[in-house]
Amino acid sequence: MQITIFSRGPSLYSTSRLVEAGRTRGHQTKVIDHACCSPSLHGEKTALLLNGKPLKLPEVAIPRIGANITSRGAAVIRQLDTLGIPHTMDVQALLLARDKMASLQVLAAHHLPVPRTVLCFSVREVRTAALRMEQFPIVVKLLESTHGVGVALARSLYELERIAEGFLHLQDRVILQEYIEESDGRDIRAFIVGNRVVAAMERKAMEGEFRANIHRGASARAVQLSEKDKDLCLRAAAALGVEVAGVDLIPSNRGPLLMEINASPGLEGIETATEVDIAGAIIEYAVNKAQL
Ligand SMILES: Nc1ncnc2c1ncn2[C@@H]1O[C@H](COP(=O)(O)OP(=O)(O)O)[C@@H](O)[C@H]1O
Ligand SMILES: [Mg+2]
Repeated sequence: MQITIFSRGPSLYSTSRLVEAGRTRGHQTKVIDHACCSPSLHGEKTALLLNGKPLKLPEVAIPRIGANITSRGAAVIRQLDTLGIPHTMDVQALLLARDKMASLQVLAAHHLPVPRTVLCFSVREVRTAALRMEQFPIVVKLLESTHGVGVALARSLYELERIAEGFLHLQDRVILQEYIEESDGRDIRAFIVGNRVVAAMERKAMEGEFRANIHRGASARAVQLSEKDKDLCLRAAAALGVEVAGVDLIPSNRGPLLMEINASPGLEGIETATEVDIAGAIIEYAVNKAQL
C-alpha cells in the first residue's frame, strides 16, 4: 500500500520508525513535509499542493502534526478529507487535544476524572481563583504547552501572580490547577492506537523537578496498566476522538486523573522504555483503516 507520513522531518525518530515499520511490512512509505503543503480547491483540479505542484495522493496518510504548526496541519488534514484520502487523525480531535482546557472540559462532560482546574484571563481572575482553591502550591499552565515548557509551580500568591503575568504576555489565558503532590513527580503515559492500549510507561521527574516530561530529563520504565486504567485511557481518547493518542494520567489520592491527551505523541521514549513496536501498530492500524 502507498502510505504518506506527514511530518516536518524524515530524520525525526518517530518518523523514521514509521517509515521503517511501513517498509518492513512491504508498503511504499514516504514522508511529506506539511509545512510545504497548500490545500487548493480548484474544481476538477482540487489538490494538495506540495511546493506548488499537486501531490500524488497516497492510499492512506499518517499525519504527525507538531504543536507549532497545528493550524497548517489541520488545513492539510481537512484537504485529505476533501480528497477522500483515509488517514489517522480527526481534525476536530487534533484541535481539541491542542487546547488543554477544552480537552479537560470534554473529559469532565464525559464524567471522566480530571484535576481541579480553572481557566483565567487576567491576573485579577488568577487571584480570586487562587483564593477559591485555598491551597498552595498551584500549577500554572499555558493552554498550549509541550515538553513541560509552559508548566510552572507557584508556592505563594506572589509567585502565582508573577508567573501568570508572564504567561498572560505570551497567551491571553492561563490555567490554574491543583498540584497533585502525592504523585511525587510521577505520571503514566499510555499509548493508544485505535481502540487498544499498545504500551504504557511510568515517567519519573528528575530530582528537584515536578514535571515528568522526558524532555525535562525524566526517566521512564514500562508498566502494565490495570484493566480499569486501560479502560479509563481508552474512554478519554474516544471522548476527544483521538485515534493515535498519548494519554497522560497522574496518580492521586482520588485515583488516577487525566492530565492531557497528546494527538501526535512521540515514539522514542516509550518504544525505548517498553520495547513495543508502536510504529508497527500505527502502520497496521492505518492500513486496516484504508481497507475498510
Ligand atoms: N496538576 C499537576 N500536579 C502535579 N504535577 C503536574 C500537574 N500538572 C502537570 N504536572 C507535571 O508536569 C508535566 C507536564 O504537564 P502537562 O500538562 O502534561 O504539560 P505538557 O503538555 O507541556 O507536557 C506532567 O507530565 C506532570 O508530570
Ligand atoms: Mg504532557
